[in-house]
Amino acid sequence: MLQTGPVKESNRNGRSKAAQNGATGVRKSEHLRINLENDVAAKGIATGLEQYRFVHNAIPEIDLGAIDLSIEIFGRRLAAPILISCMTGGSEESRRVNLTLARVAQAHGLAMGLGSGRALLEHPELIETFDVRYLAPDVLLFANLGAIQLKRGYTADDCRRLVEMLQADALVLHLNALQEAVQPEGDSDFDGLLTRIGALCSELEVPVIAKEVGWGIAPDTIRMLFAAGVAAVDVAGAGGTSWSEVERHRIGEPWRAHVAAAFADWGIPTAECIRNARRAAPGGLIFASGGIRNGVDAAKALALGADLAGVAGPFLRAAGEGEEAAADLAREIIETLRIAAFGIGARTVTDLKATTRIRRRDEEIDAAGVTRLAYKTPGAGTFLDITDDVAAAVKAAGVRHGICHVYSSHTTAAVRVNENEELLLRDFGRFLEGLAPADGRYEHDDLTQRVDVPPDEPINGHAHCRHLVLAASETLPVVDGRLALGRWQRVFLVELCSARQRNVIVQVLGV
Ligand SMILES: Cc1cc2nc3c(=O)[nH]c(=O)nc-3n(C[C@H](O)[C@H](O)[C@H](O)COP(=O)(O)O)c2cc1C
Repeated sequence: MLQTGPVKESNRNGRSKAAQNGATGVRKSEHLRINLENDVAAKGIATGLEQYRFVHNAIPEIDLGAIDLSIEIFGRRLAAPILISCMTGGSEESRRVNLTLARVAQAHGLAMGLGSGRALLEHPELIETFDVRYLAPDVLLFANLGAIQLKRGYTADDCRRLVEMLQADALVLHLNALQEAVQPEGDSDFDGLLTRIGALCSELEVPVIAKEVGWGIAPDTIRMLFAAGVAAVDVAGAGGTSWSEVERHRIGEPWRAHVAAAFADWGIPTAECIRNARRAAPGGLIFASGGIRNGVDAAKALALGADLAGVAGPFLRAAGEGEEAAADLAREIIETLRIAAFGIGARTVTDLKATTRIRRRDEEIDAAGVTRLAYKTPGAGTFLDITDDVAAAVKAAGVRHGICHVYSSHTTAAVRVNENEELLLRDFGRFLEGLAPADGRYEHDDLTQRVDVPPDEPINGHAHCRHLVLAASETLPVVDGRLALGRWQRVFLVELCSARQRNVIVQVLGV
C-alpha cells in the first residue's frame, strides 16, 4: 500500500500530493503532445552506432528464409529481439497508443513496456488506459515506475499491485534523475535510492529491470545495479529522444528553458553504453534503447553486446498515425534486422551477438591484422585504459586463437598491463617519481651538449628513463576470439612526458 506519515508529501514547489496526482496526468499528456509535435531528439550527440559498420559477407552460406530471430526472455518467446519501449498510460490518448502498440506487439512477437504506473497506483480507475494484456496475451510485457517513487512511499506491495493489475512479466524502474532536475516541479532527491532498489529486488516475485530514459548508464552503475539484484538493465543511451529537450518545450520561464537546453548533448552514447555494460556484466541481461531507429541499428546494438533492442519515439509517432503505420514500422525493423543478419551470415540472434564482422569506422585495419589506434593524452602520469579498443581490434581481426601485440610507437609513452584502481594508479605515479625524479639531473636535458636538437625539444630525460623500465609493448593471449586477460588486468597507455598525440599499433596473429 501507499505509505503516508513519514513520507515527504510535497515536492520542490511545496505542492500537495493530490495536486501532484492531477499534475502527473497533465504532464504525461503534455509529454505525448510534445513528443508528437516537436523535435525532441538529442542535439550535438549521436548514438555512436553510426560509427560502426558490418563487414559484408558476399557468400553468407545461409538461406535468408532460415534465419531465426526468435529469443526467449523471462520465459516468454519473442519473434525478434525488439522491445517497444516503455512510454505511456493515464490518459485517453495514451490508451489509444497503448492499445495500438499492444496489437502490433502481439501480431509481430515483440516485447512491450508500459509507461510509468504511478498514476494508476493512485487512480486505479485509470486501468483502461494501461491494460493491454487482453489484447497481447503472449507478449513479454513490462510494468513501469519511476525509481524515485521508492523514496516517496511506494512499497514492494504497491509494485506487486501494479504488476498484478497489468498482468506484467516484470517491473521496469526508470532512472530519470536529470529529467526530474530540469523539471520545475521535479523530484530530484535520489539520495539512498540504490538501497531501496536492492530491497525491492529481494522482495518482488517478478524480475526488476532498471533503465535510464535517454542519458545512458555507465559501467560502474551497471555493476552496482546488478549487485543490487536487478534482473536486467536497459542502458537507454544518448542520441535518441532527449528528455531535457522534451522538458524544454514545457517550461515557461526562459531561464529555466535555457537550463534544459544546456543538456541537449548530455549523456553517454548508446553504443558506448552497450559495449561498457557488456564488459561490466559479461553474463548480465542488457537491453539497449536510445536512438535505435531501424533494424541495422538494432543489429549493431546486438553485435555490440545487447540482448534486446528497444525503440520508443518512432513507435509513438507511428502509433499516432494509426495501427497500420505502427505495424509497418514493426515489419520494417524486423525485416531490416533479418537482412542485416543475412548480410553477415548470422543464422540466429546468438550468431549475431557473437559476430566478429563489426568494425568501428575510424578503425584502420589492414589484411595483416594491424589496427592503428590514435590517442591525445591529457598529460604526464596519465594511465589511459585502452583495453576496450584493444579488445575491439582483436574482435575485428577475426582471430580465434593466437596472440595480440600492443605496441607504443614512442620512447616516452609505454604500454603496460595492470589494475585500473584509482589509488594504485597514484601509487604508480609516486613509484615512477622515485625511480626517475622529474627534477633530477639528466644529461639528455642539457640541450647545449646535444646536436640537431629540434626547436620544440622537451626537457624529458626522466620520461625516457621511466620508459626504459616500463617498455613499449605487451603481448597478450587471444583465446576463443577474445583477449584472455585476468580478472583485474587492463591494458594501459602510460604517458610519461606531456599531453601528446600518441599512436599505438595492435597486431593480432593467429588462426
Ligand atoms: C513519449 C515517451 C514517453 C516515455 N515515457 C517513459 C516512461 O514512462 N518510463 C520509462 O522508463 N521510459 C519512458 N520513455 C523513455 C523510452 O522508454 C526510451 O528509453 C527513450 O525514449 C529512448 O528511446 P528512443 O530514442 O527510441 O525514444 C518515454 C519515451 C517517450 C518517447
